Parts: sequence; structure tokens; C-alpha cells
Amino acid sequence: TEQTYIMVKPDGVQRGLVGEIISRFEKRGYKLVGLKMCAPGQEHLENHYADLKEKSFFPGLIKYMNSGPVVGMVWEGLDAVKTGRSILGATNPLQSAPGTIRGDFALAVGRNVCHGSDTVENAQKEINLWFGKEGVTKWA
Ligand code: GTP
Ligand code: MG
Repeated sequence: TEQTYIMVKPDGVQRGLVGEIISRFEKRGYKLVGLKMCAPGQEHLENHYADLKEKSFFPGLIKYMNSGPVVGMVWEGLDAVKTGRSILGATNPLQSAPGTIRGDFALAVGRNVCHGSDTVENAQKEINLWFGKEGVTKWA
């Protein structure tokens, strides 16, 4: 079955939204197979967002992501990557539908509370980047 990497960004952690975000994925029916709080540091974050390094907002993005700890998780289930992103809502919260996490809890693209992998291939890369050492938990 498909897996995706979902991360509560520093603003989501600081605002106490970790439980809410976990709850939405659990209630939808996804299975939690990885969960970790960490302060990964600049180099790791630059790695995670390597595809965006030419963007003008990249330095601000890294500073934001480095402003506090994040909570990373791996969710497993049907169509986890695409449906996971629909649970998060559009990248820019001004375009996120109500009922999505960003549509309910965010206004600014530079403080949009959560991350979700955008393709199955990138999900595997991100799971390896964030959970490579300890791996995820197999359970049924
Ligand atoms: P992630 O799930 O975080 O990867 O978001 P995404 O896949 O919906 O968008 P993308 O990967 O293109 O951008 C990564 C993150 O960079 C976004 O979630 C935003 O936090 C930030 N970002 C994207 N576009 C902009 C922008 O135009 N301005 C600013 N300030 N930040 C942006
Ligand atoms: Mg992205």
C-alpha cells in the first residue's frame, strides 16, 4: 500500500495543531507507521526542499522551517499521497477549501502549517530522508 510523508511545520507545532492534524488522518482511515518530533537543522531542511532552491522564497522558507521543531509522520493507505494533499488543502491557504487543514487553520503561504509529499516517488525519498535510520513500523 501507498505511503506518504506528512509534516507539521514549526507554526503548526507552536500553535498546538499536532493533535488536530494527526486526528484528521486517523479519522479518514490512514494508518500511522512513523512519527517523530525533531529540530532537523538548516542542511537537512535544504535537502528536503532541494527542488525549490532556485526560488526567490527559498531562504525565507528555510528560515521559517528552522524556526522551531517539526513533527514528521508517515501515513499508509489507499492513494495516501494524493488524498493526503487534499486533506492538507492548496499550498496557498487563501485558495485552500474550508474543511482542509490549511483552509481551516492558515492564511499565509509562508506559514501554511503542514507539508505533504507531492508524488509517490518523492514520498519514498522523503520517508528515506526523515526516517531512513530508524525506518517505519510495520503493523496490522
Ligand atoms: P509542501 O507540502 O510544504 O511541499 O508545499 P507544496 O508542495 O504545497 O508547495 P511547494 O512544494 O511548491 O512549496 C513548498 C513550501 O514553500 C510551501 O508549502 C510554502 O510554505 C512555501 N512556498 C511556496 N510558494 C511560496 C511563495 O510563493 N511564497 C512564499 N513565501 N512561500 C512559498
Ligand atoms: Mg511540495
